[in-house]
Amino acid sequence: MSQRLRKVVFPVAGLGTRFLPATKVVAKEMLPVLDRPLIQYAVDEAVDAGADTLIFVTNRYKHAIADYFDKAYELESKLAQSGKKELLAMVQGTLPHNVRCVFVTQPEALGLGHAVLCAKPVVGNEPFGVVLPDDLIWNHGPGALRQMAELSARENAGVIAVEEVPRDQTDKYGIVDAEPVSERAAKIRLVVEKPKPAVAPSNLAIVGRYVLPGRIFELLETTKPGAGGEIQLTDAIETLLAEQSVLAYRFAGTRFDCGNKLGLVKATMHMALEDPQLAPAVREWIGTL
Ligand code: UTP
Repeated sequence: MSQRLRKVVFPVAGLGTRFLPATKVVAKEMLPVLDRPLIQYAVDEAVDAGADTLIFVTNRYKHAIADYFDKAYELESKLAQSGKKELLAMVQGTLPHNVRCVFVTQPEALGLGHAVLCAKPVVGNEPFGVVLPDDLIWNHGPGALRQMAELSARENAGVIAVEEVPRDQTDKYGIVDAEPVSERAAKIRLVVEKPKPAVAPSNLAIVGRYVLPGRIFELLETTKPGAGGEIQLTDAIETLLAEQSVLAYRFAGTRFDCGNKLGLVKATMHMALEDPQLAPAVREWIGTL
């Protein structure tokens, strides 16, 4: 795993039922936090980590994501003609020139593990990142995935992002039992998908960032449906633990779970209060509530 991280997978084929009816036609990943869709924050983090190949695992309804990263000829020529250079740069700047996108389809939403497996033909047998765009992780220094890619290369290990969650929420997450090896990293002994609080081995929950070896694909191929009848990435990681070391990493940064409404509201407020132009008006308005 001491190779540089070049490829990052974005599993975006889920149904997004918590944002219905909007997600009837708008992919959850296209929901904006201020003026940028969630997928843009995720892609920026992958590019910051050094990725040059972005693999989107989509379904037949999510053309908007491909359109978003494509050229917008009509819009770009209108902005160019009217001399709106800043807006033009913004429209053209969704992706750096050296980065390419590959789209693969997950024919049926059979679970996160299955979605990741769909990327196998593009990733091959090299370490790769997985970013779930609905977990928006915001950090002023290096992004969470970059921190993880550096640790993975240094320690020659898989790395999974974790965060402490309230005990009564363990059944919403994959939970790890891990032995601390440094201030932020711990060697995973065990992972369990969505354990009830009474039997959860800890309150360290897996959140949406992974750096994994290509070997995980072979393990996913033989992983049977687990919690919720879905093919779980966590189950394949549990098998991987018998072969190589995988670290749980408490990243520097703030995570917003934008897969639910409260998380999206919090992310929006956070970004608004960090924006020097918006912040004074937002603060003033909050004061009136
Ligand atoms: P979620 O558990 O948040 O499911 O998936 P969801 O369908 O996106 O949203 P809700 O719960 O119905 O509101 C976590 C991540 O895994 C991807 C999702 O797109 C999301 O990024 N995923 C999940 C897939 O790509 N395929 C699947 O079969 C399941």
